[in-house]
Amino acid sequence: MASGEHETLHSAKPGDTGGLRDEVVPILDFGSQTAQLIARRAREAGVYAVLVHPSISADELRAMQPRGIILSGGPSSVDDEGAPSCDPAIFSLGVPVLGICYGMQLACKLMGARVDRAEHREFGRASLDVGADNAGRGTLFHAIPGHTTVWMSHGDQITGLENAGLVATASTKTCPYAAVRSEDGLFRGVQFHPEVTHTPHGTDMLRNFLYEICGCRGTWRMSEFADEQASKIRARVGDKRVICGLSGGVDSSVAAALIHKAIGDQLTCVFVDNGLLRKNERDLVETTFRDHFHIDLRVVDASEQFLGDLAGIDDPQEKRRRIGHRFIEVFKEAAHDLPDAHFLAQGTLYPDVIESGHGHAGNSANIKLHHNVGGLPAELGFDLIEPLRDLFKDEVRKLGEVLGVPDQIVWRHPFPGPGLAVRVLGDITKDKLDVLRECDEILLEEIVAAELYRRTSQVFAVLLPIQSVGVMGDGRTYERVVAIRAVETQDFMTADWARIPFDVLARISNRIINEVRGVNRVVYDISSKPPATIEWE
Ligand code: XMP
Repeated sequence: MASGEHETLHSAKPGDTGGLRDEVVPILDFGSQTAQLIARRAREAGVYAVLVHPSISADELRAMQPRGIILSGGPSSVDDEGAPSCDPAIFSLGVPVLGICYGMQLACKLMGARVDRAEHREFGRASLDVGADNAGRGTLFHAIPGHTTVWMSHGDQITGLENAGLVATASTKTCPYAAVRSEDGLFRGVQFHPEVTHTPHGTDMLRNFLYEICGCRGTWRMSEFADEQASKIRARVGDKRVICGLSGGVDSSVAAALIHKAIGDQLTCVFVDNGLLRKNERDLVETTFRDHFHIDLRVVDASEQFLGDLAGIDDPQEKRRRIGHRFIEVFKEAAHDLPDAHFLAQGTLYPDVIESGHGHAGNSANIKLHHNVGGLPAELGFDLIEPLRDLFKDEVRKLGEVLGVPDQIVWRHPFPGPGLAVRVLGDITKDKLDVLRECDEILLEEIVAAELYRRTSQVFAVLLPIQSVGVMGDGRTYERVVAIRAVETQDFMTADWARIPFDVLARISNRIINEVRGVNRVVYDISSKPPATIEWE
């Protein structure tokens, strides 16, 4: 396999059901931003769903012995030149098929229905009316209210079902065929997106498809994912060595634990101490991975090089650039000492994949470029192993728990690659970093003590590049100012400041001012994102 390619569940082979699952639901991924969300909903329902390329043949699907098949949405129009299609024989496999949005339009078109561009692109909430006859046992709408809200996002819609062997089962004001069923009972299509939270009963509809229609029992568990991924990793790695850059964050930690389960001593982890870490961070990583997991862990202390590179630099992007460069240099050198390393393991998650426009169908829109320091260039020449590529953050946490990764790491708030360098505003010195470490430790202690750590998404202290006047004893002081940032967020793209109780803030402030020399003022950041960002730099 060429460098940079990866093999994950995406490349499920025909007939490859891992030997562990008896309930598989392949999802043909037509490039929707939410295709993986469908898989995730199925996994939440205890059914093993896996994304597959839309060009998969009906024979290959049959070999997977699927309980059901789902066709995802996608950005194309069915009549576009080069629009993705699927093997029409899928509809005669005798397996229930659910088409969502583009998947529905494509299926209906292949069955002979008319699909046209709608007069108005419909985007947002719509009220769905479910026909009374269509909500009984064994239907998509079983136990769903007759009128319910659904989320629409489409430009085309079905305009005629004549001779297609299809009947409408639900409608909205603008969309007479918002849901359809084939007369033979094997196909269901919905124009809306049941997988998103804006469709309040969407999860129930997907469960109805899986349980009522496909007859799944929902017995799949995350431990199976761990076993299955471990056996895939073993098969792929053979007797070669894997190198894994550990950051101490959830993703790389869980990836390392999983790979270690698969190949034991053939894994070497490298942890770079860049001098920009929190207090005790290096200890936690060493204790967890070397002492607890008995992983071959190399700690490279490169703090002097990093701090040397950063001396006198106050521009945040320049800080990131220098840290990124140095990290690659240090990692290259560490890898040099492991000449037999063939694979590089990374804890890339599904949101990273989709945000950088590398979704399965390769045609989802590019939303955001990554600024992740710690990303390693392809020129390092390793083959990549990314065992978490199909998972969302909370699924990774679940997997971490299954693998026995300690809570302290599994539930850790994200910490940026450039570390405290972007939290000491302006130029960086070791002295400033030490002051910030003390403040940060007190802050986290109090947040944990108040049982707020799991209820907040990210909490940290920022050392401001100003001094303020204070009074201590009889004297005037002129010392540093620290800002406290605590946010709640689902996806880190938008965030709100956390409503930390005043008495907790009071304790934090008192302790910092009393215990950390050189700080005489603490302020609380009450900005949301946007327009502010989570970090200050
Ligand atoms: P912002 O500040 O952009 O942060 O609202 C969103 C999330 O990204 C983290 N962050 C970074 N992570 N390298 C990283 O690995 C970076 O340069 C970086 N900058 C911000 C931030 O901590 C938050 O979780």
